[in-house]
Amino acid sequence: VTRQIKDLRTPIICVMGHVDHGKTSMLDKIRGTTVTDIEAGEITQHIGATEVPLYTIESLCKGVLPGNIEVPGLLFIDTPGHHAFTTLRSRGGALSDLAVLVIDIIDGFQPQTDEALKILKQYKTPFIIAANKIDRIPGWRVNPSFSFTKTFESQPDNVKNALDNRIYDLAGKLSAYGFSADRYDRIRDFTRTIGIVPISARTGEGIPDLLMVLVGLAQKFLEKNLKLHVTGPGVGTVLEVKEDKGLGYSIDTIIYDGEIRTGDTIVIGGKEKPIVTKVRALLKPMPNRELRIVEKFDHVDRVTASAGVKILASDLDKAMAGSHLRVAREGMLNALIKEIESEIERAKIVTDETGIIVKADTIGSLEAIVSELRSLKIPIAQAEVGDISKKDIIEAETINDPLHRVVLGFNVKLLPDAKEHMLESDVRIFNRNVIYRLIDDYADWEETQKK
Ligand code: GTP
Ligand code: MG
Repeated sequence: VTRQIKDLRTPIICVMGHVDHGKTSMLDKIRGTTVTDIEAGEITQHIGATEVPLYTIESLCKGVLPGNIEVPGLLFIDTPGHHAFTTLRSRGGALSDLAVLVIDIIDGFQPQTDEALKILKQYKTPFIIAANKIDRIPGWRVNPSFSFTKTFESQPDNVKNALDNRIYDLAGKLSAYGFSADRYDRIRDFTRTIGIVPISARTGEGIPDLLMVLVGLAQKFLEKNLKLHVTGPGVGTVLEVKEDKGLGYSIDTIIYDGEIRTGDTIVIGGKEKPIVTKVRALLKPMPNRELRIVEKFDHVDRVTASAGVKILASDLDKAMAGSHLRVAREGMLNALIKEIESEIERAKIVTDETGIIVKADTIGSLEAIVSELRSLKIPIAQAEVGDISKKDIIEAETINDPLHRVVLGFNVKLLPDAKEHMLESDVRIFNRNVIYRLIDDYADWEETQKK
């Protein structure tokens, strides 16, 4: 079967793994950025997206790439690693074509490594393993930015053996999930065996090998999979709703299918009902820049999948992070409104009769906090996406148990009227931008109050 390959969709690569195993550092090395330094508590809190064009990959791979590459680049999705982020991560898992599971080679398998594997198995997502932090193997001789095969050659025998023992260990753990795995340079058929690529996100060793294997896999996937071709009206996911100075409200999105143009009518999930609005502007981050942390955008007329893009339009103030986005072309509008309506219905979080109040910035983070509180048996009276308002504090005042007269906020603002009202209220407010800190601080406070 011959097929004309054109308008290829950029494959979406989800980076998964346990907290601190080096997901963001690995992407920093590929993009030449330092996002890890900017993050609160160095923990990734939100899904971020970065487009890495083929020329960046080629320059990092220094001639090891085969010549017939047709993928326009790779769209990397960085997912948060803390165990509370199950929902965000599984959304990441479903969204992506391929995945990189990052495992700290010293630390080995950890709970979120297992969880990521379960998600990958469930969604049948092809993946590779980045066995990170090889520079921490005792006796390792650093050769900055070398390919793995080159740097491996230069290591003493005991270091070589130590590395291989750890790789066997990982392969053994993977076999418990029914995956056969091996060091990537010993594999012929990547569709049967999972490639383990030893890397160091700190020294850059093994990064060329990692990209080479990924691009090769993406290319294979693309040849088999018509899904990778850009067709029809755009479909995407809202990552974040933002209020920017001078821009008003905007949404950060990932368009994973089709095309979106300025002037298009879009339907997205809103806090009360679906929002129907017209795209005023499309802002794309420069290549190799994160959608979350970006200094410069390109104004564009159209965006084709896959891409991270900031959308400006009116009525976005009530948009709900985590919801779907659909471009409505001729005659589609009513069906799309119905579809988004039922999605909003499903996202509503059922709460207990009495308990604390939770406010968070996205559906994903809200779900994560709620599931964490549930596992700690902390009752929740109300859980919503949005900033902390006076209304929330008044609501909390009606709670009988003083230990639950509390508002937990994650990555939200304390609105001016709430600030004012707080002065004359006994409601405790915990507002943090790291989920586990938010929950730990509340739990600690509850402990001291009980004494
Ligand atoms: P979360 O976003 O919190 O899930 O973490 P992450 O997986 O993105 O890890 P991150 O990139 O923030 O790295 C965690 C820590 O490990 C940082 O202090 C990094 O400097 C360090 N680190 C990452 N990669 C390497 C590596 O290859 N070698 C060494 N020695 N340290 C590394
Ligand atoms: Mg990170």
